[in-house]
This record gives sequence, C-alpha cells and structure tokens, in this order.
Amino acid sequence: MEFFVSTASPSRQRTDCAIVGVYDKGVLSTAAEELDARIGGRIAKLVKRGDLRGKSGDAVLLADLSGPCERVIVLGLGTRSAFKRKQYRKALASALSVLSKTGARDAVSYLGLDEIADADAYAQARAAVEVVAASQYRIPDHKTTNKRPKPALTKFGLAVGSRGDKNQAERGLTHGQGIVAGMALMRDLANQPANVCTPTYLARAAKNLAKDYKKLNVRVLNEAECKRLGMGSFLSVTEGTEQPAAFIVFEYYGAPRSQAPTVLVGKGVTFDTGGISLKPPAAMDEMKFDMSGAASVFGTMKAVLELQLPINVVGVVPACENMPGGRSTKPGDIVKSMSGQTIEVLNTDAEGRLILCDAITYSRRFKPDVVIDLATLTGACVIALGSHLSGLFSNDDALAAALKAAGERADDRAWHMPIGEEYAEQLKSNFADFANVAGREGGAITAACFLSKFTEGLRWAHLDIAGTAYQSGANKGSTGRPVPLLVDYLINKK
Ligand code: BES
Ligand code: MN
Ligand code: ZN
Repeated sequence: MEFFVSTASPSRQRTDCAIVGVYDKGVLSTAAEELDARIGGRIAKLVKRGDLRGKSGDAVLLADLSGPCERVIVLGLGTRSAFKRKQYRKALASALSVLSKTGARDAVSYLGLDEIADADAYAQARAAVEVVAASQYRIPDHKTTNKRPKPALTKFGLAVGSRGDKNQAERGLTHGQGIVAGMALMRDLANQPANVCTPTYLARAAKNLAKDYKKLNVRVLNEAECKRLGMGSFLSVTEGTEQPAAFIVFEYYGAPRSQAPTVLVGKGVTFDTGGISLKPPAAMDEMKFDMSGAASVFGTMKAVLELQLPINVVGVVPACENMPGGRSTKPGDIVKSMSGQTIEVLNTDAEGRLILCDAITYSRRFKPDVVIDLATLTGACVIALGSHLSGLFSNDDALAAALKAAGERADDRAWHMPIGEEYAEQLKSNFADFANVAGREGGAITAACFLSKFTEGLRWAHLDIAGTAYQSGANKGSTGRPVPLLVDYLINKK
C-alpha cells in the first residue's frame, strides 16, 4: 500500500474514490460541501431524501459520477462536537469496508479538513494508516478454498488543509507504516498454529528478520547454553515437550553503544497446555497465542528497524512449549532460577513467569535503561480489565506513566495496576524461596509481584496482554497489540 498527503481541494483532486462526511442532522462537512458543487449536489440530495442522516457509522456509496472522482463515499460522522479521533477511526473503517467491495484502486480521505479536537495531522495520518492496514490484513491461513480476494486498493491519500500540516501528516504516515509493518509481523506469527509456530520456527523467523535488516543482530541460545547460564526456571517449563526450546536475542543499535538500551522481553510459549496442571479443553486452541508477547517483540523490532529509530533496543525471547509428559515438571518440584533464587512450582500452568524471570535476569547483561516485559500472563488480568486495556505494572512510576501515555496516544491503552509487599506475601513457600502461584485473588497482581522479585535495581515494567493480544469468537486472531504502544513509547523516548 502506498500512502500520500495531498493539499488539493476535493473539487480538484482526481481519484477513484473520494471520502467525505456529513455530521448529525445532515450538516455537510467542509469537504462534502466543496465536492458537492462539482457533482451536482448529489450529497445534499442524499441528505434531503433521508438516505443519509449523518449518524456515526453510516456509509453510502455514490458511484458512476463524472468529475474529479468516479465514486464518493459519504460517511455519517455523528455530532460535530463529538467527532474525535475515536469517531475518525470508526468512520474511516466504515469507508474501508465499503471501499473493499468496489474496484477502486486509489482513494483520498477528506475527513481531516475539519479540525479534530484530539487528532492533529500527525495523529490522523498515523491512525489512518492503521485503519487501512487493518482492513487489508489477511491471516496467513491454511484454507484451500474460499481464499479472500486481494484488495483492489493500492494507494491511499490523506487531504490536509495547509502546507504545515502536510509535513506533520507525512511524519505520521511514516510512523504509521512502521507500526503496521510491525503489527503485521506480530499477527502473522501469532496466527500460525502451534504445529507450525514452534520455538524453532520463531528462531528461524528471527534469523530471517536479521537477513532483511543489516542493522539487526540475532543470536539464538539452545537448551545446553541456557543450562550453562543457569536458567533452571526457563528450562523447567520445556521438560515435557519434544520440541527444543530456543532463547532468542535481538540487538539493534541506532545510537552509540554507550547509550543504555531498552530491553523488551516477550513470553514465547508457543503452546500452553498447562503442563501437568493441565488446562480444561474449552478454548485451549487459543493457547497458540501464548507467544504473543514474543511476537510483539518481533513486531516492535521490525518497526524500529523500518523507522531506523535513533535508540538502542534489545529483544529477549524465551521460547518453548508447555506440555505434559513423562519428564514434565510436577507440582511441588523446586527449580533454581538464573538469579539463584529457588522456586516451588505449585502449578505448572503458571509457566509464563517461570520463563520470564530468567529472561529478565539475562537482560541485566545489557545494563538496560529499562526492561519491559510483554506477556499473555494471566486469565485474571482478563477478568480485571476485559479485552480493552492491557494491565500495566511497574516498579517505577515515571516509566509506568510514560507507557500509559504512549498507549493513549497510540489508541492501544493500558491501565496502571498496583504491585506491593502485601500481595507478594501470598507467594510464600515452606520449601523454596517462594512459590510460582498465590491463589485466585488478585492473580494478575501476584503474577507481576513474582516477576518483580527478579527486578531488583532495574527500572522495569510488565504488560499483561492476555486480554488484548488476540480476539476470540468470530474474529478470532491476533490484534497486533501492544506493538502500537511500544513503538509510540520508543519514538518518544528521549
Ligand atoms: N497463558 C496463560 C494465561 C492466559 C489465560 C492467557 C487465558 C490468555 C487467556 C498462563 O500461562 C496461565 O495459564 N496462567 C494461569 C495462572 C494461574 C495458574 C495462577 C491462569 O491465568 O489461570
Ligand atoms: Mn499457563
Ligand atoms: Zn501461558
């Protein structure tokens, strides 16, 4: 997809399809007004006949027009004063859905010609790229029939009011394209079934990424190397499977090496059966998405590489399967983490924290500025926040605030949740330094508290993306979150 910014008026710009809006009560937007003069008042007539009321989400296609554009999509935008970034995204998504049923190869949106309170030209452009990319994304499915046709649309333009806005919008398009490239990579990896996307597959995907981008360095540690490093906790999770585990490390230096890197740690459980603490069968297929944290690290690295951000970023991905088997870790087994601390594994289904703790310890060798881990860590987080916001936990309030703000700007929100000694007490064990589970109450918080035991002296944050990284039901699939949040954070990092 090619994106461009235009300062031409809708009455002049040639395009296969112009996209304009009408507010509540049939009030034409500036662009609709201008265009209508060239197409014989068709939009005003539409409103007058009662075919378009301006309700948010409505969309009508006018085809077979003569003039600068062959088609016009007229969108209902709702109340003028309530038309903000959220409504802008929704309106554009309706337009794309109409567009996808036409043969239009290019389109220009004029929705931004009226001011949008919480979206300047930069934010509009970034959001537009995301909406277009979302409408064009295709799951790398394994269907042999009924393949969805390739979209006709290959070029998308955004109209802006002034030259100053043009520069901003172009910057937004660039950043948006980096973000959606990263999201697509994340989604492609996470959508693969677990018999395709194994730890070995992820390791190969990492090496392929390094082939595509010279500035990326990738190293993959095998189980023997992890053992030598003392990663007893990580390795305890992979005991039951035939699939070899892989510990993947990405390094990108966009700034002098002396600048401390941001380390992103992603949970890469390519399938989570629960192990000996076997999960119930319902929806167990969705545990192929248990490597979404890992996939978000891949996606964010890709965005950083596309955008050549002037910072240093390291990605650390412990990848393995969690399976029951003759050699599996059993409830009550005690393992020694790379930090030296011992853990009583009371529930083998609380495996994410067991692999992350060693990855966090490993990340210390990079003398990181911050460590951020991403993980589909707990069902409890989905109970607490649903599927709209990710859970955000940190031992550093400034870092938490920066990530929360990034999530808001990126429309990929997170909610700051507490951690603390009173919760961590629930992890006590009679047999080891602590246990890996702490009962049902506050499950997302106690999981974060477990991780915090490995973050002494680090500026650390944890995003529990169990509810946000993928969708269930009819639209089952990876969402690409939290790539937008992470890339926004990195773009704005000083
Ligand atoms: N991968 C799951 C968490 C999960 C559950 C993600 C549902 C998405 C949807 C994780 O490994 C897990 O099993 N967590 C347990 C922890 C419990 C045993 C303390 C959970 O949430 O039930
Ligand atoms: Mn589990
Ligand atoms: Zn899991």
